[in-house]
Amino acid sequence: MTNLLKILIVYYSQTGNTEKMARAVEEGAKSVVGIDVVVKYFVKPEELADSDGIILGAPTYYHDMGMDMKNLLEGAAKDEINLKGKVGATFGSYGWSGEAPNLLLEIIKNRFGMDVIEPSLRIKYNPDKKGLDECFHLGKTVAEKVLKKSLKSDL
Ligand SMILES: Cc1cc2nc3c(=O)[nH]c(=O)nc-3n(C[C@H](O)[C@H](O)[C@H](O)COP(=O)(O)O)c2cc1C
Repeated sequence: MTNLLKILIVYYSQTGNTEKMARAVEEGAKSVVGIDVVVKYFVKPEELADSDGIILGAPTYYHDMGMDMKNLLEGAAKDEINLKGKVGATFGSYGWSGEAPNLLLEIIKNRFGMDVIEPSLRIKYNPDKKGLDECFHLGKTVAEKVLKKSLKSDL
């Protein structure tokens, strides 16, 4: 019997654009029945460990992700939090260069060995309807993958 599956969405947003993306990703993940979806603005590294799927959102400021996100990942690495094989994805709003979601994806894939959805989802400034649909789709894709993996591991 499968325990309740959980997806954690953690995002940072200064002017609200990545936040809108996060809400649409949340709706997409919730559209798949049987998964508990939690959205947080700030988490401690150990909270990452009890989720089956982790979706991280960060806007790009000064060609980088914010300090909160950096501290979270550095903390998780330092504390040796095991995220191997968990489903992961990243997203974020940007203006011109958009590095943050790609940096995040690279870290969760190569440093933590997560099973990631590629590429990251990047949207310029304020997401329009098409952008929000893409966010919804990302959330749904992660949730479906989490479900599929849990069914496989039950066999
Ligand atoms: C001070 C400042 C620095 C920024 N630096 C970058 C940058 O290096 N690359 C980029 O693509 N966008 C950059 N942007 C644009 C933001 O990523 C963009 O406004 C984004 O929509 C902000 O997302 P948020 O509303 O979730 O905070 C910058 C914006 C500001 C105000």
